[in-house]
Amino acid sequence: MSVDLEFSKFADSYERYNIIQEKVANELLGLVKNKPKKILDLGCGRGALIKKIDWEVEFFLGVDFAKNMLELHPKGENIACIYGDFDNPELYEHLFLYDFDYILSASALQWSQAIETLFSRISKLNFQNFAFAVFSSNTFKTLHKTANVSSPLPSSQTIIDAATKHLNADFFVRNYTLEFPNTLQMLRYIKKSGVSGKRGVLSYKQTKELMRSYPLDYLEFEVVFLYS
Ligand SMILES: C[S@@+](CC[C@H](N)C(=O)[O-])C[C@H]1O[C@@H](n2cnc3c(N)ncnc32)[C@H](O)[C@@H]1O
Repeated sequence: MSVDLEFSKFADSYERYNIIQEKVANELLGLVKNKPKKILDLGCGRGALIKKIDWEVEFFLGVDFAKNMLELHPKGENIACIYGDFDNPELYEHLFLYDFDYILSASALQWSQAIETLFSRISKLNFQNFAFAVFSSNTFKTLHKTANVSSPLPSSQTIIDAATKHLNADFFVRNYTLEFPNTLQMLRYIKKSGVSGKRGVLSYKQTKELMRSYPLDYLEFEVVFLYS
């Protein structure tokens, strides 16, 4: 398993709360070959991927289960969004009607309740290639260790095993760190970035307490890139 590491510094402006997801989306698109024309984006959010795609698409379908995110997603003649849960089998009955050149997903599939079942369902869709970036359990590793809690995310090995089994995926693991000038900004980031998800392991109060004993001036992130 190859592991790359990249450091970044946090700047305190609203846009920067997505700094890691932005890097992940850029890196994911770097894996995409041949400027695909028909694309499915699972967990599309506000449209980080379609906003970065700099070639003409024939059809882009974004799927997300957060209505407020979908409202902010670009829409147009060739861009559609559907409200859907990628853990719900009924979604796949609908998606099966399409032929996709590429299935993409950035920073979303780690929230699946059953990642192996998810990859198995995806494998039955009609598509040529895929590229997924999935956060894994070493995200916030030292923070979880210091607080003595386990990560809500699947391990990189679990993700890789499921993806090689069902999708015959190529993969690599990328580690990022984000430095903070002080613990208050680190706290704000955890709260606002959405990286810790709805199933937050710690309450805000517990997190604040934890930051007193947190030994690093940066947060850690681990992302598995899967692609064909
Ligand atoms: C961190 S955001 C990433 C959004 C976008 N892909 C990006 O790269 O900025 C994760 C997205 O996954 C969506 N999501 C999480 N679980 C989902 C599920 N089971 N079905 C559909 N969307 C889901 C969330 O609503 C959210 O918009």
